[in-house]
Amino acid sequence: MTTADITFSEEAQQKAKDILSQYPADKSKSALLPLLHLAQAEFDGWLSVPTMDYVASILNIKPIEVYEVATFYSMYNLAPVGQYLIEVCQTSSCWMCGAEDIIKYLEKKLAVPTGEISADGMFQVKKVECLGSCGTAPMFQIGDKFYEHLTFEKIDTILEELRKENKRSRYV
Ligand code: FES
Repeated sequence: MTTADITFSEEAQQKAKDILSQYPADKSKSALLPLLHLAQAEFDGWLSVPTMDYVASILNIKPIEVYEVATFYSMYNLAPVGQYLIEVCQTSSCWMCGAEDIIKYLEKKLAVPTGEISADGMFQVKKVECLGSCGTAPMFQIGDKFYEHLTFEKIDTILEELRKENKRSRYV
């Protein structure tokens, strides 16, 4: 796929316009982070090179300026991801409250090592640093939703609900 094949849906184009309208015309580059979030949500949860080039064209900046930002922040995915990316916090509070066990449980339950996509394409576990919800450790994030005070039973219920829902959240 090339950049010429990449276009936001009408809905995403409107959202992009709304985002850009929040910044002065000569400071539109400041909209890069929210536009990358929008692009990631629009294009299956990850940013391909053509997608990043497309974002660069919207902002009229060099592609390298987009790559520099997208590769710096861990919330941007630079390779295809599972339909549900389970971002498990492994930092201090969560680690002390059992994040390692949570990760092992997910790997066993989904039959896939951390970082890889489950055979059905639905799930992928990713270890991340503090998500700012330390008081409700252990926790993980899927899309824009936090799942807190996790237990194995809670995880079973969450996975079951997601399997039933079976769709990617848009505009996360
Ligand atoms: Fe896990 Fe902060 S340590 S959210």
